[in-house]
Amino acid sequence: MSTKIEAYLEENSERFLEELFSFLRIPSISTNSENKSDVNRCAQWLFDHLKGIAISELEIHETAGHPILYAEYLVDENKPTILLYGHYDVQPPEPLELWDSPPFEPEVRDGKIFARGATDDKGQLFAHLKAIEAHLAVNGTLPVNVKMLIEGEEEVGSPSLEPWIVDNKEKLSCDAVIISDSSMYAPGIPSIMYGLRGLAYFEIELHGPSHDLHSGLYGGAVPNPINILASVIASFHDSEGRIAIEGFYDNVRELSTAEQDEWARLPFADDAFLRETGAKGLEGETGFSTLERVWARPTLDCNGIIGGFTGDGAKTVLPAKAKAKFSCRLVPDQDPKIIEDLVLAHLAKVCPSSVRYEVELHHGGKPVITGKEGIAVDAAKKALSKSWGSEPVFIRGGGSIPVVATFCEVLEVPTVLMGLGLNDDRLHSPNEKFDLENFYKGIHTSAYFWTEI
Ligand code: BES
Ligand code: MN
Ligand code: MN
Repeated sequence: MSTKIEAYLEENSERFLEELFSFLRIPSISTNSENKSDVNRCAQWLFDHLKGIAISELEIHETAGHPILYAEYLVDENKPTILLYGHYDVQPPEPLELWDSPPFEPEVRDGKIFARGATDDKGQLFAHLKAIEAHLAVNGTLPVNVKMLIEGEEEVGSPSLEPWIVDNKEKLSCDAVIISDSSMYAPGIPSIMYGLRGLAYFEIELHGPSHDLHSGLYGGAVPNPINILASVIASFHDSEGRIAIEGFYDNVRELSTAEQDEWARLPFADDAFLRETGAKGLEGETGFSTLERVWARPTLDCNGIIGGFTGDGAKTVLPAKAKAKFSCRLVPDQDPKIIEDLVLAHLAKVCPSSVRYEVELHHGGKPVITGKEGIAVDAAKKALSKSWGSEPVFIRGGGSIPVVATFCEVLEVPTVLMGLGLNDDRLHSPNEKFDLENFYKGIHTSAYFWTEI
């Protein structure tokens, strides 16, 4: 990378931050219908921004959900073509009272940018856009062909994007996909993520009596949906922390000894991990290390539970219904559709006939292993080494980006997950942040990446 680009990045660093702030101010919450116009406004903001940095081939595609932004800057058909993916939608900010500053009024404190979307994914995506801007501003062109696909529905499972990719396979043809929507292994340790977990998501509602009852008059003789829901949830695990659903582990790929050894060499301390969580102790499936539990083993976790009387004081009620949301993180080679069937069969077995229940299936995603080889991985390695001063480590991630499996299957090209965030960024939580160092080094990393490839 030329010193001219370095100088451009230096000279414009303050403006980059101001622009990121404008991006972060738009409450593009994909799951809330009240924010529909904000989500549209955010797509339009990106469109205008890309136009401003001289990307002329730009399209906004309306979908049944939120708009998809597609852009390309093609320089030479003999050079590689890289597809940059990111998402401009964010998670809801609630609970608002736990934020130290309002979620959509970004501010820097202590060297960190605080805002919803700061790290997931606006800040990480924007780092790439600024690196591309620098190349265009300094050289009037890019070192390779670049396509960009930026969606507004990642946080709701990418329902519109997946079919769109299938329909636009030719348009999206490329040599590799690059994504920065994950984390580095630890502060100062640059990383390439080569695997992600998948997801299957459920919502169950149990119905007991047709209306709330006096628990003195009826309690003990009428099914209580909360009690039953609790026993249903308890049936999901055995005493060893294993998931007690028949067939659940059938397709789980065992961890290779090479991976086990590699992970054992990574600097890791259970107590530091524990401190990040604020919990009193760790627990999980017997026989696996913490890294194995979060990277290579499937889970079933309740995400929410609703039912009965939750106001102040005591009310002796036998509730009519109870509800829980729960989800499974999946690992290769589990298939979300098969897992859905197994969970439904388990529910049919454990729910007593005295209650009626309904299950809603939400959008999930397949687990992936993206691999450690190829031109894009090599370029990412060099770019990360140059900007962080040490070789990246290869890691897997416990989170999910459903569209990665679609890139692998439909475009049949490798995806490189070059996470620029940190594990303590509090993504999806109050006080989400992105370290200024990660933002600026991320821009450098991206600028090197385009040159290296
Ligand atoms: N960027 C995250 C995924 C992520 C974070 C992967 C950190 C690896 C490390 C993404 O925006 C996300 O939150 N995905 C959802 C899945 C979706 C279907 C709601 C998730 O993992 O819960
Ligand atoms: Mn994300
Ligand atoms: Mn997210």
